[in-house]
Amino acid sequence: MHLLRRPRRNRHTAALRALVQETKLHQEDFIQPLFFHGGGGDAQKIEAMPGILRHTLRSLVDECRSLADWGMTAVALFPCIDPACKDPQASHALTKNNILYRAIEEIKAATPRLLVIADVALDPYTSHGHDGLLHEDGRVENDSTVEVLAKLAVMEAEAGADILAPSDMMDGRVRAIRQALDSRSFQDRAIMSYSAKYASAYYGPFREALKSQVGSIPLDKKSYQMDPANLREALLEVQLDEEEGADIVMVKPAGTYLDVIRAIRETTLLPIAAYQVSGEYAQICAAARLGWLDYHAARDESLLSIKRAGASMILTYFAGEMLREWACDANAMRHLTL
Ligand code: PBG
Repeated sequence: MHLLRRPRRNRHTAALRALVQETKLHQEDFIQPLFFHGGGGDAQKIEAMPGILRHTLRSLVDECRSLADWGMTAVALFPCIDPACKDPQASHALTKNNILYRAIEEIKAATPRLLVIADVALDPYTSHGHDGLLHEDGRVENDSTVEVLAKLAVMEAEAGADILAPSDMMDGRVRAIRQALDSRSFQDRAIMSYSAKYASAYYGPFREALKSQVGSIPLDKKSYQMDPANLREALLEVQLDEEEGADIVMVKPAGTYLDVIRAIRETTLLPIAAYQVSGEYAQICAAARLGWLDYHAARDESLLSIKRAGASMILTYFAGEMLREWACDANAMRHLTL
């Protein structure tokens, strides 16, 4: 055949493929979500999330030191609160010295360079598991919830959190949090808003990790989290969060919403975070355990797709092990060149 154009020429060797690769993953792309509990005893395994632990305060700080050594930029903290401390008003959220504030303080003291992203939502603290306060008719109330969220964000900033990340999907919370932070001279603390957070089936393992699932029927959060069918609504949420002062907007989950990431990339100038959630992680781990998928290849492909779609940063449970592998590779290379 006389072909002038042969796209395969650029694929012939690994070196050529590396030169022409359009999307690359870097260590700075990743954010590690971390779980921890305040009870005694050891770090605990989470059944549906192999390799991920519900840390103790001590193992959490140790883990952050290791992550920082491997080059991790940021961690996102999620506390698993003792059920005895939960109530319908989430009052433990605003209790000084609760496990979250202690964790933020200890991590910032141990590894000041590591950015700490604090979750701003009430689900770890409510006995009903919802992200907000309930009206007596059972509806999740918006405005009273936002008042508590703003106070929670300020207390997290006081403890040393670098980035406040509202994951609750209440209306107007970004503006309220921005104003509350600014009025306490926390103008330098950033807001990473979970702007397009969908009512997804893929949060199951996370709720097990936080023990925030009440009973066996998955909690219905459809009155505040978005309908998976909607794309324009995601653009509206991003627009509002931007107007209200968000510094980074988020899409969550990531892998099943690549079109949303791409559409938002084309409409905002803000950085976009994508959250590869617990169910996405569990799927890859489970299929690999059954021998049905190649673990490393499926993992890397899933992350690359999220970056290709337009994410500036990725929250993923694979973050730590990706960086650990790269750190080992770099060490190995150093030995080879010596
Ligand atoms: C709740 C919250 C959830 C996740 C992060 N924050 C679950 C939910 O909305 O029920 C899910 C993250 C994951 O599945 O990895 N504020």
